[in-house]
Amino acid sequence: MKTVAIHSQKGGVGKTSMTINLAHKAMEFGFETLVIDLDPQGSATFFLGQGQATKLKAKQWLSHEIDWNRYIEATPYEGVFILPARKGLRKLDRLMSSDVSDKHIKRLLKSLKSQFDLVLIDCPPGINTVIEQAYRAADRVLVPLTPTPLCLESFRTLREFVDDVAIPSAKLAPFFNRVNPRLELHRASLKQFAQNAGEPQLGWVRATTLIEKMAIDKKAVTDSHPAHRVSRDINAMWKVLMRDLDLHH
Ligand SMILES: Nc1ncnc2c1ncn2[C@@H]1O[C@H](COP(=O)(O)OP(=O)(O)O)[C@@H](O)[C@H]1O
Ligand SMILES: [Mg+2]
Repeated sequence: MKTVAIHSQKGGVGKTSMTINLAHKAMEFGFETLVIDLDPQGSATFFLGQGQATKLKAKQWLSHEIDWNRYIEATPYEGVFILPARKGLRKLDRLMSSDVSDKHIKRLLKSLKSQFDLVLIDCPPGINTVIEQAYRAADRVLVPLTPTPLCLESFRTLREFVDDVAIPSAKLAPFFNRVNPRLELHRASLKQFAQNAGEPQLGWVRATTLIEKMAIDKKAVTDSHPAHRVSRDINAMWKVLMRDLDLHH
């Protein structure tokens, strides 16, 4: 089982959109996949949740005797399941920081190891104990960056964070999102990033309203528009990720 967290300290950069698109790719490739919605805003749950599972309370995350399967539900994508979020997840950070010696997310994943090939964790923005735990549990942390001159700074913040808590920075896999390849500013930002932080191995995803429209038909863009250029961007990223994680049957 491989675990991928999708995180940025910023909101609105494309974490959830990428989570949903990757979940769809995972279905296409026949991987049994669990999406964990760690964001109290519940956007991934909005896309994939069907409201069948018992809602997990934040304090239950701390329990050692939990049957996670009661809280996991099927999604419209075959073989893809979700641990849905609820508003009470806001308390999770306070609860987890009161007992930092425990590795709650790792424990959850350990108990589900035989069930899933891939786990995608849609993280909330910010940097806190919950995020630290997600990073520790993950094999890779995908970081969407916007192609602006400040993206380098924001990526450096995450590098400092992982260094501070002794998590290998090689786990960080940045990619650019909302790129307009015709804009000089975007091209310059990509170039500046590559010169300073290295070429983002996962590449970039173009800006298109089709991604915004995902919320209307509640489908991954790779599902609703498989031949569109943005889906090709995502396909390419998925292939790199599969190879990088050695994800196979
Ligand atoms: N490549 C893209 N092109 C256009 N809009 C995008 C793109 N990626 C994300 N968005 C839009 O940006 C907003 C925030 O995306 P979302 O995935 O919810 O971000 P986050 O989970 O980081 O808060 C949404 O309205 C989404 O449709
Ligand atoms: Mg989100």
